[in-house]
Amino acid sequence: MTSQTVARAQSAVQPIVWTGEVLRLLDQRVLPAQERYLDCKSAAEVADAIHGMAVRGAPAIGIAAAYGLVLAVRADSRSFDRADAVLAASRPTAINLRWALARMRGIWSRSHDVAVLEKEARRIHQEDLSQNLRMAELGAALLPQGARVLTHCNTGALATGGHGTALGVIRTAHAQGKLAAVYAGETRPWLQGARLTAWELQREGIEAKLIVDSAAAYLMSREKIDWVIVGADRIAANGDTANKIGTYMLAVAAQRHGTRFMVVAPTGTFDPNCASGELIPIEQRGAEELTRFRGEAIAPPGFDAFNPVFDVTPAELIDAIVCERGVIEEPTAAKIRALLN
Ligand code: MRU
Repeated sequence: MTSQTVARAQSAVQPIVWTGEVLRLLDQRVLPAQERYLDCKSAAEVADAIHGMAVRGAPAIGIAAAYGLVLAVRADSRSFDRADAVLAASRPTAINLRWALARMRGIWSRSHDVAVLEKEARRIHQEDLSQNLRMAELGAALLPQGARVLTHCNTGALATGGHGTALGVIRTAHAQGKLAAVYAGETRPWLQGARLTAWELQREGIEAKLIVDSAAAYLMSREKIDWVIVGADRIAANGDTANKIGTYMLAVAAQRHGTRFMVVAPTGTFDPNCASGELIPIEQRGAEELTRFRGEAIAPPGFDAFNPVFDVTPAELIDAIVCERGVIEEPTAAKIRALLN
């Protein structure tokens, strides 16, 4: 990776800014209409920002939580455990959150020094960017010339320490002149695809089209889509992968239409302690996310809803998992173990 590539990746979108005093988050709830930053001064404020989706995306919430611990111990060096518990409870599915907290705990238990803890949070942030740049090269190398791709949710700079995971592959493949068509699913109900991925793609000058989530199978039946490329919130030991609701449906449709399916995620997304997908906790959010839109009722008053915000794609539907250590084709528990060790 050239220093120019790193500089471009860093300058593009800055969703997480550590000022040394506060954690400044680009508020993703109001994008693309407004580019507004939210200053978090305590671990509780960071946990609220994670739960409330001001910051979202598996790697990004891990990075934010790491800085949250720095804010906590700076205010009171006895507050590590309390802050750790509050941050860990903010969202259940993405293992990156717990992975980052565990890494910070390891450092804190050895040094009890805020400066060392802060350095570790900065390191987690920086490492994520370099891992993404590496995964982007590996993932782009799997695509044929003139590739037609479909992505889901937002996995770009907004969801990570920079460049992105699945969207990072698309950005790099675009820079290499490899892409003939890019489609992005709108991603109900939070519209991460429509609001965030479309915003990032437009800023990058990458021509793309938005589809409603339910148009994916029809799209695949009408034109050749080479790859579905998605991120992950947690990858179980056997390769079953939790990601934004609708991902499983894309994998099923992809299998039927001869479209290949790629998951792009750093090692912090793997959970070796979770044997298979059914053990991954799936976050359920309120019915009002479906029954209301921008404050207005779109379903009859009092109507209930089932609102899981992630689903699990079985490993057998995944053609490749790309992580910074390499590519696992047709993932199995043994291949994942070999890569992680
Ligand atoms: O609910 P969100 O917006 O946090 O969900 C995000 C996703 O599902 C992403 O695909 C995943 O975190 C990978 S982000 C690089």
